[in-house]
Amino acid sequence: MAARRRTAVLISGRGSNMESLIAAAAAPDFPAEIVLVLSNNPDAGGLATAAAAGIPARAIDHRPFGRDRAAHEAEIDAALREASVEIVCLAGYMRLLTPYLVGRWAGRMLNIHPSLLPDFKGLHTHERAIEAGVGHHGCSVHVVTEDLDAGPVVAQARVPVLPGDTPEALAARVLVEEHRLYPEALARFALSLPV
Ligand code: GAR
Repeated sequence: MAARRRTAVLISGRGSNMESLIAAAAAPDFPAEIVLVLSNNPDAGGLATAAAAGIPARAIDHRPFGRDRAAHEAEIDAALREASVEIVCLAGYMRLLTPYLVGRWAGRMLNIHPSLLPDFKGLHTHERAIEAGVGHHGCSVHVVTEDLDAGPVVAQARVPVLPGDTPEALAARVLVEEHRLYPEALARFALSLPV
């Protein structure tokens, strides 16, 4: 088997998508291995989950950097390179990225977004889908580019919007699909990368 692609996961909170990636990558034939978890938020619950799974996990708090997003991103980038990372997966990473970090990882950074892109970019996707009265909603994995939630989509999963759905109920239905979709998309992406 070809070398497994060294992959980092960037989180800001609970980290349930990160957990699904770690679980999938525990299989020896999975084409990516999770070698690092980073969070901009020292209180992110996912950091402890990652550490418990034996993955190096570290917070690089954005707050001491104030408005200097590029300086914060330079630290993130340095940590990624120090760990010889080849693929970066954003998984509930709630910081807008500048062109600096996006450019450093062009074609090697994925994000999962809770909508059927190009619909409902940005925040509060479940509320907005219910308000819009759509029959289906879902999640997308896409390659990260400079424009928010606008890079090429590599995988999508759909769920129905049911009568009487609350944002929480719909989010839970979508999340089940996220946990299935992201590992599958990462595996395909890892296999498609040039050596
Ligand atoms: C997930 O639903 C993810 O799609 C979403 O945040 C949640 C994180 O949950 N991401 C975004 O909204 C990105 N704009 P998790 O921390 O349990 O994976």
